[in-house]
Amino acid sequence: MRLKQCHNFKDFRKLAQRRLPGPIFNYIDGAADDEVTYRNNTTSFEECDLIPSVLRGVESVDMSTTVMGQKLDLPVYCSPTALQRLFHHRGERAVAAAASKYGTMFGVSSLGTVSMEELRKTYSTPQVFQFYFHKDRGLNRAMLERAKEAGVEVLMLTVDSITGGNRERDLRTGFSIPFKLTLAGMLQFAIKPMWGINYVTHESFKLPQLDSHVDMSGGALSIGRYFTEMLDPSMNWDDVAEMAEFWDGQFCLKGIMSGDDAKRAADVGCTGVILSNHGGRQLDGSSTAFHQLTEVVDAAGDRLDVMMDGGVQRGTHVLKALSLGAKAVGLGRYYLFPLAAAGQPGVERALGQMRAEIERAMKLMGCTSLDQLTRGNLRFR
Ligand SMILES: Cc1cc2nc3c(=O)[nH]c(=O)nc-3n(C[C@H](O)[C@H](O)[C@H](O)COP(=O)(O)O)c2cc1C
Repeated sequence: MRLKQCHNFKDFRKLAQRRLPGPIFNYIDGAADDEVTYRNNTTSFEECDLIPSVLRGVESVDMSTTVMGQKLDLPVYCSPTALQRLFHHRGERAVAAAASKYGTMFGVSSLGTVSMEELRKTYSTPQVFQFYFHKDRGLNRAMLERAKEAGVEVLMLTVDSITGGNRERDLRTGFSIPFKLTLAGMLQFAIKPMWGINYVTHESFKLPQLDSHVDMSGGALSIGRYFTEMLDPSMNWDDVAEMAEFWDGQFCLKGIMSGDDAKRAADVGCTGVILSNHGGRQLDGSSTAFHQLTEVVDAAGDRLDVMMDGGVQRGTHVLKALSLGAKAVGLGRYYLFPLAAAGQPGVERALGQMRAEIERAMKLMGCTSLDQLTRGNLRFR
């Protein structure tokens, strides 16, 4: 199977599975507990149907949107994800380059593997910095200052990871940073030598957002332990108010799921919220962003930009979310599998397909701009 044969999410996932050692594939593909929420994320889009309007003259379609003060050519963006250079040796560089080509925003994780400064200097498309709130207040302040100084446009505080999700696939393989594999996990690396050759012949693995504060040489820091030992479970609304004031710019909370919390976010000075259950990787049994979208959009009114992510695999999923009032939609595994499968050309191919699908679906819906998508376009069964 090759890149040219990848026509949708499932094809990219299959190609990524062939290229990646099992523990890494399962880190991306996996979710918490029984992965119920993970599965529901995609199927929730299928509980409602689009109602097209015809004969409207749709020769040219404008897919641009403005969200968090950023003008994007597409209503989708690359949501921040950790450890991208493990998936492909160019990691964040490949994703940022592809996002720039398509005129959209990309996220850089606190657990990113390329520095936010390098990415900000190299690519001109809007950049989000995803922030985790650490126990070490000095580290928090230093990270916010770095992001400000680098010229990052949007700060995104993730609020759904107050403790680590129970990711059983990672427990089975021994996935951690640095690797501390189980025997079965090691065997899975041994049968993917190309990945290993690429990994050892490129720049060594780093977490440049954290490395001045975290000593990684002392042993394995599993992702679960990062969440439970380094992040601050006492984080509350007062902390958010303080951060938003300090940031003094576009500031959103990622992982809001209720109308009440959205109102509270606006009250403490946030400019946006992202409905998200972290791709099903945190609270299994949680509702889906799509199910909660109407409640949050209504609560937000015009005080907040509302975005959502989780399970998006098709242009029609994006259209359904925009019809309920989301301003933009985040992609996670949708670009991670293409990154793992083929680096920058993979991510470009996936974003190109997403753009084509959104454009085609808008034409078939009889819409020439995103503001024509309304709740009237949808019927829940
Ligand atoms: C491998 C992986 C790593 C992720 N790392 C982060 C992260 O570091 N910070 C964060 O806020 N969200 C992270 N996420 C969540 C994504 O930003 C996004 O919310 C989620 O992937 C959306 O679901 P989807 O993958 O079904 O599109 C990660 C997701 C995946 C799959």
